[in-house]
Amino acid sequence: MSKQGFIIDKALAEQFTRYMDKYLELYRFLAEKTGEHIQKSVKKPVIVEIGTGPGLLSFELHMLIPEAQVIGLDPSLHMLSIAENKLIGCKHCYFVKSSVENMPLKNRSADIVVSRFGLSSWKNPKKGFSEIFRVLKPGGRIVLEVLNTDFPNWKLLLTKIHMMVKGAGKNVIKYHVDSYRMAFSIKQVEEFLNETSFNIIKKEGERKDWKFLVIATKT
Ligand SMILES: C[S@@+](CC[C@H](N)C(=O)[O-])C[C@H]1O[C@@H](n2cnc3c(N)ncnc32)[C@H](O)[C@@H]1O
Repeated sequence: MSKQGFIIDKALAEQFTRYMDKYLELYRFLAEKTGEHIQKSVKKPVIVEIGTGPGLLSFELHMLIPEAQVIGLDPSLHMLSIAENKLIGCKHCYFVKSSVENMPLKNRSADIVVSRFGLSSWKNPKKGFSEIFRVLKPGGRIVLEVLNTDFPNWKLLLTKIHMMVKGAGKNVIKYHVDSYRMAFSIKQVEEFLNETSFNIIKKEGERKDWKFLVIATKT
């Protein structure tokens, strides 16, 4: 594991999906948050999910806002294949192999961009944020849920034990713990957003919580 990227093989993609399938309420929560930040005047919003993984959030977004076009991006073909199967019935959901640093999307084409727990893996966060800024329409928003680097180690140990008890398997536990090693703080994420000229409108989560949420607008 390095900042060059985690290796997500087929087994890890499947084990990750099996484990996260037990926590769909986390995805419903984020889908609802995302829905709240889409302008009401937009009838068929374009939602881009970065680092979609097995598509669990894209699925919840599709269920919540069936008229939306959902574009899930991920560099892992193993993850994308699971996502595609999950949303096979959605005619306006697309899954594309792509990293955040170089998205095959037009300027000002997205109403909202959402990303859950992917930031730790981005090779070049500054480039990623400027790409998100490029593809968002003016007034469009970014909804970011991020693993918190300030989460205390002793609590991470308890999380590991919890994951073991819940049958996550050692690959998924390692993936999760490694993600924390490369995670960011609320302050660092604020800095990335400010440097990219985003206007932060909402932050949720305390300094030492396991995760936090930041929402910002492209003005
Ligand atoms: C911890 S998983 C989270 C998956 C999904 N968001 C979820 O919450 O279920 C992180 C995902 O980010 C993807 N990823 C890794 N590097 C990336 C990059 N540079 N740009 C976009 N996504 C990336 C991985 O392939 C992986 O699917």
